Amino acid sequence: MIVSVCIEKGGTGKSQTAVNLSAALVKFCKVKVLVVDLDPQGTASLGFGISPLSTNTHAIHEVLAGEIPAQDAVYAYNETDLCIMPARHELALYGSQEFTTELNNILKPMSKVFDFILIDLPPTLGNFTTTALSLSDAAIIPVNASSSVCIVALLSQLRTIKTIVEEKINPKLSVLGVLACMVNNTRICTEVLTWLEEEYSDLLFQTKIRQNIKLAESLGLGEPIFDYSPDSYGALDYKSLALEVMGRIS
Ligand SMILES: Nc1ncnc2c1ncn2[C@@H]1O[C@H](COP(=O)(O)OP(=O)(O)OP(=O)(O)O)[C@@H](O)[C@H]1O
Ligand SMILES: [Mg+2]
Repeated sequence: MIVSVCIEKGGTGKSQTAVNLSAALVKFCKVKVLVVDLDPQGTASLGFGISPLSTNTHAIHEVLAGEIPAQDAVYAYNETDLCIMPARHELALYGSQEFTTELNNILKPMSKVFDFILIDLPPTLGNFTTTALSLSDAAIIPVNASSSVCIVALLSQLRTIKTIVEEKINPKLSVLGVLACMVNNTRICTEVLTWLEEEYSDLLFQTKIRQNIKLAESLGLGEPIFDYSPDSYGALDYKSLALEVMGRIS
């Protein structure tokens, strides 16, 4: 199953979710997961300890360009069933060019090897997100629940997905869920959560990702939360999300 983690709004928890949901799926649900970093910022790569500045590892733009086979850019995290195809800044070129066939040539064979492919996407409007969504089975939309502007971004993302389905670009695409991230006990957060529950109770994951400093630390230090701080709220929340995701797809 190919799942895009997307919303065209910066800093909502997309990369955090791509890294720790995939780590939780492998650890607790015993599935094989490939994280495809399709963001030239390379944040998800960083989350697995692969610097987007390093040239010691291959990256997805080389595969898209046909320079190397896809498997040469797949790295197992700590010899587990969790793998990452990293991104570097050079990927930015593809923000302005059509690459659906090239991406499909990566995803199709990989989806026979992995139970899940999670694609981490950049916040920019356009090519990366629409190309990934045109090839995905489902989308997870993380919103920053401590910011009211997330509502506009969510509505816009849902509209993009509706268009992709209705125009038959990808009729099988569905929304797996809307994920409230950075949840805290401020008034604005309570209001956003109430709105999400009223408007999108069917799509909203029961699991909420609480604001947790251990999550912020782990991403920059290159370790999924289950290695960095296994008893933190962040680890509990992403474990709960993985179980909920498995429940939704079964
Ligand atoms: N639940 C959380 N609690 C605390 N910090 C968090 C949480 N989720 C994410 N962060 C931190 O907030 C910042 C933004 O998160 P992240 O990189 O996952 O967002 P993003 O949506 O991928 O951003 P971008 O749009 O730039 O790709 C990061 O520094 C991350 O570590
Ligand atoms: Mg990101």
